[in-house]
Amino acid sequence: MDRLALDPGDGRPRPVLIGHGAADDLAPVWRPGWRAAALVGDERVLGLHGDRVLRALRGCAPPLGTFGLPPGEAHKTRAAKESLEDRLLAAGVDRATCLVAVGGGVALDVAGFVAATLLRGLPHLNVPTSLLAQVDAALGGKTGVNTPRGKNLVGAFHHPEAVVVDPSLLATLPAAEWPNGLAEMVKHAVVADAGLFAWLEAHADDVRRPGAIDPQPLRRCLEIKAAIVADDPTEHGRRRILNFGHSVGHAIEAASGWSVPHGAAVSAGMDVEARAAVRCCGLPEADRARLASLLGRLGLPARPAVPDFDALVPYLAADKKNERGAIRAALPERIGAMAGAAEGYAIAVPLDALRAAWAEARRAP
Ligand SMILES: NC(=O)c1ccc[n+]([C@@H]2O[C@H](COP(=O)([O-])OP(=O)(O)OC[C@H]3O[C@@H](n4cnc5c(N)ncnc54)[C@H](O)[C@@H]3O)[C@@H](O)[C@H]2O)c1
Ligand SMILES: [Zn+2]
Repeated sequence: MDRLALDPGDGRPRPVLIGHGAADDLAPVWRPGWRAAALVGDERVLGLHGDRVLRALRGCAPPLGTFGLPPGEAHKTRAAKESLEDRLLAAGVDRATCLVAVGGGVALDVAGFVAATLLRGLPHLNVPTSLLAQVDAALGGKTGVNTPRGKNLVGAFHHPEAVVVDPSLLATLPAAEWPNGLAEMVKHAVVADAGLFAWLEAHADDVRRPGAIDPQPLRRCLEIKAAIVADDPTEHGRRRILNFGHSVGHAIEAASGWSVPHGAAVSAGMDVEARAAVRCCGLPEADRARLASLLGRLGLPARPAVPDFDALVPYLAADKKNERGAIRAALPERIGAMAGAAEGYAIAVPLDALRAAWAEARRAP
């Protein structure tokens, strides 16, 4: 079992446990002041793993109850937050209750947002169960819900008191969810760690198979994310590098009416943004080609899933960071390092350069 102490930027390091069986005993991260445990999670995941987590809470604190959240992005809503708050209040939640959040990014984001505001703030633990949540969403303190006008528009920064990452929980994850996590792993490697990138290249054939993964790369992803968050907890500068692939990726998702999965959209987004980076900030063509090749070997599509660049423009333009005729994006200068530190890692990319990058990606073999 690996135990990291990660400081999310407030000088108070939080434990992160990583390893097979980590979710079987939560006592190592439990605090004496937490006198009750509320198990909050994705209903589907609770059906599969809820008993296991309840057993892991034995000896920590008496359970206040189990509180399900309906699965799926469509339920990442203010209504879901309100319902959870009402159920917790009816059960007698108080400020000595720790919320134990179990599920993918959706459940963790909703549970974390409730923890941020209920009784003006409760402690919570994250037990991520999707690959995406294990390498990304479980850590960093962003919590929130969607609104009809857009994703994650209402939320708060509220760091989990601990994160418990158990790769054995991934055995039941639907195979279609696997690429969503893989895309974020590639992103972490490109933005911060050429060593992780090389590891992914060497193990691509194993890693692309859903269901099982070595804890070591998960640990590396969490270390990378934690270091970036510690530098810039509220995303005014360096944390923006975590948006690599997401400017174009989000536009693809939105333009497709959210029918393109996140991993596929971000993967195509990384490929297009890397092509723009070759034009705008000197990313070597060889690095860009390595990225495209890794995406291919991991089964991630590099080709934009939406045919028409013009369909993306309204969504690209809607991004708060953008200016007339240009968007601001986080772009790599080589694998493992991002360009534009002086501009807060938000590089102005003329729409025409992005259009050319898009066309090039469509023509690619
Ligand atoms: N807070 C952050 O920093 C952050 C970062 C990245 C993404 N996110 C958010 O995360 C969300 C996406 O997360 P996600 O991809 O985990 O989606 P998700 O939470 O919807 O989970 C994907 C699907 O897998 C199921 N599932 C999860 N774990 C399972 C398991 N072990 N066994 C069986 N089924 C399982 C879920 O029921 C769901 O149907 C988005 O809303 C995104 O905004 C947040
Ligand atoms: Zn993402």
